[in-house]
Amino acid sequence: MTKSVIGKTDVTTTPLGLGTNAVGGYNLFPNLKDEDGIKLVQAGIDHGIRLLDTAYVYGLGHSEELVGQAIKNYDRHELTIATKGAHDFSSGEEIINNDPKFITQQVDQSLQRLGTDYIDIYYLHFPDHDTPKAEAVGALQRLREQGKIRAIGISNFSLAQIKEANADGYVDVVEDEFSLLHQDHLTDGMVEYLHENQISFVPYFPLASGLLTGKYDHLAEFPADDIRSQIADFKEPRFTKALTAVEQIRPIADAHEATVAQTVLAWYIQNPFISVVIPGAKRPDQVAANAKALNLELSSEEYQTIEQALYLV
Ligand SMILES: NC(=O)c1ccc[n+]([C@@H]2O[C@H](COP(=O)([O-])OP(=O)(O)OC[C@H]3O[C@@H](n4cnc5c(N)ncnc54)[C@H](OP(=O)(O)O)[C@@H]3O)[C@@H](O)[C@H]2O)c1
Repeated sequence: MTKSVIGKTDVTTTPLGLGTNAVGGYNLFPNLKDEDGIKLVQAGIDHGIRLLDTAYVYGLGHSEELVGQAIKNYDRHELTIATKGAHDFSSGEEIINNDPKFITQQVDQSLQRLGTDYIDIYYLHFPDHDTPKAEAVGALQRLREQGKIRAIGISNFSLAQIKEANADGYVDVVEDEFSLLHQDHLTDGMVEYLHENQISFVPYFPLASGLLTGKYDHLAEFPADDIRSQIADFKEPRFTKALTAVEQIRPIADAHEATVAQTVLAWYIQNPFISVVIPGAKRPDQVAANAKALNLELSSEEYQTIEQALYLV
């Protein structure tokens, strides 16, 4: 399997990772059980996935704690742990804070929760209004020099903000929403800038929160405390358009004796713009199934058919 290199660093990992916002992320999804979250992470590792994507805000530290527990009996050096910080609840309200002092404390706390002495990728989870972006990234560069983190990431930054953050060339990886349903970054200048500056790209919501697995129909309903009840893709008219487009992928999946989810994930793995795709999951069997995408090779015709089927939705 070809490994993905993160930015200009020596961090290498599998092109398929695991998103863990449903591991201890009780503030995002209802009815999560800790033991299921741990099993889910272990299923990912057992099926060959090496990058685990977590964040402080997933369960306010609980996702990081569960990921830390899950990896205890594995070889730490085989794994790539990515986490994020910027959410500050110290005033009693949620604010985004990129202040160097705050971010430095956040990294120390993430290290403790994860039970590790280094983090492979640390992302500023969101940009704040006030901190000069290069100053926030400069704080991460100092943490890199101290050996606490290995690669510097930023998430949910606009292209202009990415350029500002990368003024000193320290940014290695950008994580942002991108999926077959949201392909804007292929045409908005992001691909070119990241390529020219050797910055890796990690898309989030690659399965459009499950919509691109082909398992939904019009009867789908989500409780108010499930994040999907607020996502535009699950609202009309986009929902019907997306369901129709996903059906065009099914014959390609059938030809490979694969699922729609595996076929969609194979598209991301083959996309040269994407370094690591990080689908989330709720159950170990979903992770095990998704891992099979690492062995699914699409022809260039199939690749283009998938891209075009979902592009205009
Ligand atoms: N940087 C950021 O701001 C940011 C924001 C959001 C997410 N993220 C990261 O990106 C990751 C991915 O996002 P996401 O998990 O929200 O969305 P996603 O990857 O688009 O969708 C994941 C959901 O799809 C369903 N699913 C997964 N595999 C499946 C399979 N084989 N068969 C059927 N259903 C399957 C599961 O939900 P059900 O079983 O409930 O349908 C799962 O929770 C997150 O875990 C997180 O690490 C980052």
